Amino acid sequence: MTVAAVPSDPATASPQAPVIPRQRSAPAAELHQPQPWWRDAVIYQVYVRSFLDSTGDGIGDLAGVRAGLPYLRRLGVDGLWLSPFYPSPQHDHGYDVADYCDVDPVYGDLDEFDRLVRDAHRLGLKVVVDIVPNHCSSAHPWFREALAAAPGSPARARFHFADGRGEHGELPPNNWRAMFGGPAWTRTTGPDGTPGQWYLHMFTPEQPDLNWRNPETGRAFERILSFWLERGVDGFRIDVAAGLFKHPDLPDSPDPYADERTRDSVNPLAWNQPEVHEVWRSWRRLCEEATARDGRERLLVGEVSVPTAAEHAAYVRPDELHQAFFFDLLAAPWEAAAFRGVIDEALRDIAGTGSTVTWVLNNHDQVRTVTRYASPSGDADPSGAGTGGPRARAAALLMLALPGAAYVYQGEELGLAEVLDLPDEVLTDPVFHRTGSRLRVRDGCRVPLPWSGHVSPFGFTTGGDARPWLPQPDWFAAHTTERALADVGSFWHLYRDALQLRRSLPHLGEGSLRWLDSPPDVLAFVRGDGLVCAVNFGDGPVPAPVAGPPLLSSGPCADGTLPAGTAAWWSCDPSGVLD
Ligand code: NOJ
Repeated sequence: MTVAAVPSDPATASPQAPVIPRQRSAPAAELHQPQPWWRDAVIYQVYVRSFLDSTGDGIGDLAGVRAGLPYLRRLGVDGLWLSPFYPSPQHDHGYDVADYCDVDPVYGDLDEFDRLVRDAHRLGLKVVVDIVPNHCSSAHPWFREALAAAPGSPARARFHFADGRGEHGELPPNNWRAMFGGPAWTRTTGPDGTPGQWYLHMFTPEQPDLNWRNPETGRAFERILSFWLERGVDGFRIDVAAGLFKHPDLPDSPDPYADERTRDSVNPLAWNQPEVHEVWRSWRRLCEEATARDGRERLLVGEVSVPTAAEHAAYVRPDELHQAFFFDLLAAPWEAAAFRGVIDEALRDIAGTGSTVTWVLNNHDQVRTVTRYASPSGDADPSGAGTGGPRARAAALLMLALPGAAYVYQGEELGLAEVLDLPDEVLTDPVFHRTGSRLRVRDGCRVPLPWSGHVSPFGFTTGGDARPWLPQPDWFAAHTTERALADVGSFWHLYRDALQLRRSLPHLGEGSLRWLDSPPDVLAFVRGDGLVCAVNFGDGPVPAPVAGPPLLSSGPCADGTLPAGTAAWWSCDPSGVLD
């Protein structure tokens, strides 16, 4: 196996932050009150097909992830979440699973997976795998069997098959729309070409929804979970965790286009049904049984998209999921009041359950922060030189100062912007194809990572004609990991320094947050009683809330001021705070 070179750390440290010995300190607090690792963990999301390619086919794979583990260790994250690597026709890049207990040959095999877990654990990194219980692939043996079986058969009862409406059953059973566009129902065709029943798919037709009212489904997933737990995983990221159950009568929705319009799961008949909570209780028990066997804490972190933080909180009750991504921070515009509003809501509703908030600013479904935060005046410089880059750095420092856990999406630590000019013919996102080429939303954040060199493939893949599965822009040259590691002013060093401080300062991670008075465009808060974080969302400099130089800042920060689009952390005793 040849793996593209992963640059080594030139052992430079940012002048903005001292080099902190790599150990989880806060000794007094931790010795007396050991907390499960996930409560304040920072997890790196690996989108496997775009991380690092070891085989030269232009697609990242598990051996590539394994080769990149030392890089993640150096960055200072606590673990990694692997996007789906299971056998799949890749209609939705693995979120269409054909076999839940194997590895797609494109990504490797089970032996490679085992080596990856072993090496990650040796480096002290947790491994979280993605599990997709709401739907499977139309290539899954269950669905093939269902298509071949008669209406009303046990094989069809594993999915939602129904007769159509209209004189000849030519209309879908209800008016629901799929999240990615188009009707949520597809009609089957018999071997002789005659149209038959319809089946439900809340995403693409290649992702039929499983019927969770059939107990066989729950039993199958408990076996799947056990399979991966026995292979040593530390947890599961649960896809569409507010899904699974539908209203038992599958009635028409009063606002059928709501999901499609918002790309949020808001149809109250298709999502967030009360029965789903029992599934999370049984999965929690399974994880706790595994912990009882070997003493290792496991994590269930859900992708929970529900309308309010209060509904979100129901998913992280003490006997349900350990955590759920809090997407409201990601959705907040670059405004102090918007950020403060979602932070307050999360701390009130979610932390109140006893869980911790799971913060996220980027993932494989969203436009990257560097592009999202760029001011609309058109300075969305692809290389991040406009306002977007500095604001993304400031937002990262803010997120990493909040109480709870955080997820960092690959490339975020390199300051990658969204690739906005991918030609139509290379786009693979089903959202693009199912919305009549209207929404170009998810390919631009999935472009393979730049590791080294000056031209594509930037060390992502090796071999003479190797081409990354999505083309990389020339400006990626300024964002390779090689350059980032060598430049103490890079995004990478900011993340690394922040992660080191998070591990070393007793005030970060879990614990209290107290807001300080600040001008309207500024957020400032104290963590514990010793760390102040302030972010200037405005367009001009403001006085810093703390006298003296910051421990860490997202940009130059001198003379007691906090420049526009900048965040900083100060260590101080309470009397040093100028509020
Ligand atoms: C959420 C995942 O993050 C997304 O990538 C996927 O397309 C949908 N769930 C459907 O599985």
